[in-house]
Amino acid sequence: SSSNTSLTLDQVEFVIANANGVAATTGASHSTVSITIVGASGDLAKKKIFPALFALFYDGHLPQHFTVCGYARSKMTDEELRLKISGNLTCRIDRSENCGDKMEEFLKRCFYHPGQYDSLENFAQLNEKLKGHEQGRIAHRLFYLSVPPNVFVDAAKCGSLAASSSTGWTRVIVEKPFGRDSESSAQLTSGLKQYLNEDQIYRIDHYLGKELVENLSVLRFSNLVFEPLWSRKYIRNVQIIFAEDFGTEGRGGYFDRYGIIRDIMQNHLLQIVALFAMEPPVSLDAEDVRNEKVKVVRSMRPLSIEDTAVGQYKGYSKDGVRFPGYTDDSTVPKNSITPTFAAAALFIDNARWDGVPFLMKAGKALQTRRTEIRVQFRHVPGNLFKRNLGTELDKATNELVIRVQPDEAIYLKINNKVPGLGMRLDRSTLDLLYADRYSKEIPDAYERLLLDAIAGERRLFIRSDELDAAWKIFTPLLKDLERKKTAPELYPYGSRGPVGAHYLAAKHNVKWG
Ligand code: NDP
Ligand code: BG6
Repeated sequence: SSSNTSLTLDQVEFVIANANGVAATTGASHSTVSITIVGASGDLAKKKIFPALFALFYDGHLPQHFTVCGYARSKMTDEELRLKISGNLTCRIDRSENCGDKMEEFLKRCFYHPGQYDSLENFAQLNEKLKGHEQGRIAHRLFYLSVPPNVFVDAAKCGSLAASSSTGWTRVIVEKPFGRDSESSAQLTSGLKQYLNEDQIYRIDHYLGKELVENLSVLRFSNLVFEPLWSRKYIRNVQIIFAEDFGTEGRGGYFDRYGIIRDIMQNHLLQIVALFAMEPPVSLDAEDVRNEKVKVVRSMRPLSIEDTAVGQYKGYSKDGVRFPGYTDDSTVPKNSITPTFAAAALFIDNARWDGVPFLMKAGKALQTRRTEIRVQFRHVPGNLFKRNLGTELDKATNELVIRVQPDEAIYLKINNKVPGLGMRLDRSTLDLLYADRYSKEIPDAYERLLLDAIAGERRLFIRSDELDAAWKIFTPLLKDLERKKTAPELYPYGSRGPVGAHYLAAKHNVKWG
C-alpha cells in the first residue's frame, strides 16, 4: 500500500500476514510483532521512537498483539524504562479522555533487557524473553538499531543469529549514518549482508517520512498543471534549503566526525532532490519508485569543491546572552574545520534537467529553522507587462515554495493586477497552508516509517544501490575538502550564514529565496 498511515489495525495485520506468506486464514490474532529498540537508553529512542510507537498504538495502527522491548548496555528495570520514556509520550492525534489509560496500556507492553551489542549470549536471553511475551503466536520481529554506527554490524549479527524469528519475518531498521564515504558505506553494507538479506534491511532517512516530502509525488504526478512545467524548459533553478536555529549542542562528538554535508546533504537533501527530479515511476511500488530514484541520482554530476561553500558558526553575544561557537563545545577539538554549514550547486546531466542548477544549502545555528524547496521559474517570454512591473522584473517570475517545516505549506507566487484603476502589478501568493486546510495534526515522520516497516513497505527506505549512487556524488568532494584542509568561513551564531553561499548562488545566476 502507498498510504499506510490510513491503514486500520486489521489491514496492517493482513498486510503482515501476506507479506510473510502466512496464509490469511491463520488469523491475525494468532500473530504478534515484537519490536526491539537496540540502544533504548539513548536520545533518539526516548525522543522519537517510543513516542512514535505510542502514537501509532493510540491511533489504532499497531496490531492487536505486540511487545516493545528496549535493549542496551545500561542497567535498567522495566519500570525504570517506563518511567524514562513516559515523559515524552503525548496524545497528539486526538486529545480524548482516555489518554492516560492508553499510555498505561502501552507502557505495560514495554519491557527492557540489558545486554551487550556483541554478545550472542545476551541476545539469546533476549530471544527467550521475547518468546515468553509472544506466547506461541506466529511472531514477527522488528529490530531498530538506534546505536552509534560502529555497533550496527555487531547488533545485526547477534540479533539475526540469536534472536531472529523462527515463525515470522525478521526486519532490521538501521539508522544513519550509513558510512562516511563510498568505501565505508560499502563495508557497512557488506557487513550487514553477511547476516541479513537486502529485503530485511530498512535504512531509514526520516526526511522521507515527512508529510510534504511524501506529498512531492502527489503534487507532481496527480496535478496536470505542474508536471508539464517540470523541466529545464520552464524551471530556472531549484533550491533545497535546510536551516536550524540551534547548534550541535550535545552532539558535538558525533557531528565533528561527520559534518553537515554528511549529516544533512548526502541523505535528507539528496533524497528530496531525487523525488523532485525523478521520472514518473511505473507504479507506486517500492521497487518502481526506488528504480527511478537510483536512475536520477546516477545522472547527477559528482559535486566539485569549486561549486561548494562551507562555513562554521562562531560564538556570538547579544543583549548579554552568549551563544557558543561550534568549537566552544568541549567534545569538539578547538582547531576543528568541520563544516556546520554548506552550500553546493548540483547538476543533473539528463534530458530533463540539463543546465538547471539545484542549489542545496544546509546549516546549523542560523537565524531561523526551516526546510524548504523553492522552484524558480523562467521569465515570461516577451512579457506584455514589463513596464507595469517596474524595476522588480527579476523578482516577477513565478516561484513555487514547498515548505517542509515548520508550518507546512505549499504556495505559488504569481503576478497579479493591483485592484483599481490603472495597471499596476504586484506579487501575490496562491497559498495552501496546511494548518488552515487540514484540522488533523500531521504525524511525526517516525510514525509513518515504523508503520511501513511493520507492514513490509520499503518505498520510503533507502536501497543499497541508491546509497552507493548517493555516495558517488559526495565522496570526491568530501575527500577534496579533507585533503585540501579547506577552512570554513566563520559565521556568527544566529546569522544568515557565510557570504560564500551568496557568491556561489550568484555564480549560477541565482538569488537565494
Ligand atoms: P546515543 O549516543 O544516545 O546512543 C544510543 C545508545 O547507544 C546509548 O544510550 C548507549 O547505550 C549506546 N552507545 C553510545 N555510545 C556507544 C558506543 N561508543 N559504543 C556502544 N554503545 C554506545 O545516540 P542517539 O540515540 O542520539 O542516536 C542513535 C542512532 O540514531 C545513531 O546512529 C545516530 O546517528 C542516529 N540518529 C540520531 C538522531 C538524534 O536526533 N538523536 C537523529 C538521526 C539519526 P548504552 O550505553 O546503554 O548501551
Ligand atoms: C538528523 C541530523 O538526521 O536530522 C540532525 O543528524 C538534525 O543534525 C536532524 O538536527 C533534523 O531533523 P528534523 O526532523 O528535526 O528536521
